[in-house]
Amino acid sequence: MTKPVLWKNMRLSVDGQSSALIESAALLVVDGRIAWLGPGNALPAALVRDVSETHDLQQAIVTPGLIDCHTHLIFGGDRAEEFALRLAGASYEEIARRGGGIVSSVRATRTVSEDELFGSALRRLDAMIAQGVSAVEIKSGYGLDLATERKMLRVARRLGQVRNVTISTTFLGAHAVPLEYAGRADAYIDLVCEQMLPALHDEGLVDAVDVFCESIGFSLAQSERVLQAAQRYGLPVKMHAEQLSLMGGTALAARYHALSADHLEYLDEAGVHAMREAGTVAVLLPGAFYFLRETKTPPIALLREYGVPIAIATDCNPGTSPSTSLLLMLNMACTLFRLTVDEALAGVTRHAAKALGHADVTGRLAVGDYADFAVWEVASVAELAYWTGLPRCRQLVRHGELDLKTRPARAD
Ligand code: NIG
Ligand code: FE
Repeated sequence: MTKPVLWKNMRLSVDGQSSALIESAALLVVDGRIAWLGPGNALPAALVRDVSETHDLQQAIVTPGLIDCHTHLIFGGDRAEEFALRLAGASYEEIARRGGGIVSSVRATRTVSEDELFGSALRRLDAMIAQGVSAVEIKSGYGLDLATERKMLRVARRLGQVRNVTISTTFLGAHAVPLEYAGRADAYIDLVCEQMLPALHDEGLVDAVDVFCESIGFSLAQSERVLQAAQRYGLPVKMHAEQLSLMGGTALAARYHALSADHLEYLDEAGVHAMREAGTVAVLLPGAFYFLRETKTPPIALLREYGVPIAIATDCNPGTSPSTSLLLMLNMACTLFRLTVDEALAGVTRHAAKALGHADVTGRLAVGDYADFAVWEVASVAELAYWTGLPRCRQLVRHGELDLKTRPARAD
């Protein structure tokens, strides 16, 4: 057991909510986990005796480290030209059907080397870390062949080795039909289920499995085959569902006890009901909604009524959400989807942890949980959702370790 490290004199939000701060709080970390937390003056003297290191946070606000539970962080190239086409009137679906969209990022991702892919993703990851993000989910899905899907997932694992951040990998082989399988989507699903997933799972590269269930993605029957394959390997599932139309993917995903169903603009009440029964998290992606200039918002009132936990993520990707800012997503979830500030904050902490299957160890600050927390230069937690651009994360601690890339506390 390592010696305890004491963090003291903070205004502590244990669950990322804007109310009920513990004033002048202290937090004791042993072996990367929280051994004690509460008002500093209640800290038992016996625990203080062994402390090896003390950090005085000078009454800064501390929240759980933020969690970005849906990203496509790794890809080659960009799609700035496609953005211009869309602004000139082409729709996302039209561009995809003309061989642009996801398939054009696939071309670029296949072409670049693993090191180039790593370098560009690392820049994006660093931007996230600078905003207090201590855990990131990363999907494959711009390879669509075994070698390139492997290359992407290997890059994801490497990112987790060079930065003090928790990376969860999701295999999204069923993201689009690659050109070499045009018109043969079922045969491509065979490849995904019978070759790609078993091989990548065998190599320890897959934490969860996702599928894009949509008219420009995969049908319900094809999606179900992917879920079944994941189930055979005991892997948890997620689904891109009801983004552009109501396909019923969410109810299907819920039958497979999906960790989350994501996007959900077209979700209906039956789908919401199925999510509640299965404990599936609704991951909302306001960045994609905004960037595609969508007008139909997810059924927030129904999600609330049924008590379905709502998470918020960047969906960082070159086609529909070229953003690394989870703080901006907090703001957009409030302005575009009318979430309350506290709902949005829960969406990037507790509920995001649940969407990754990690709610028992992170996403809140409690004894026994990982010491994953962010120290902020704000006067209230609500400011995290209020500003676009300003809030600065002064320090980020993950599993008790101070991220060396974040700024040290200012001397003034
Ligand atoms: O989450 N919907 C599918 N996947 C991504 C978009 C990927 C792309 O266009 O490159 C999304 O929005
Ligand atoms: Fe996505």
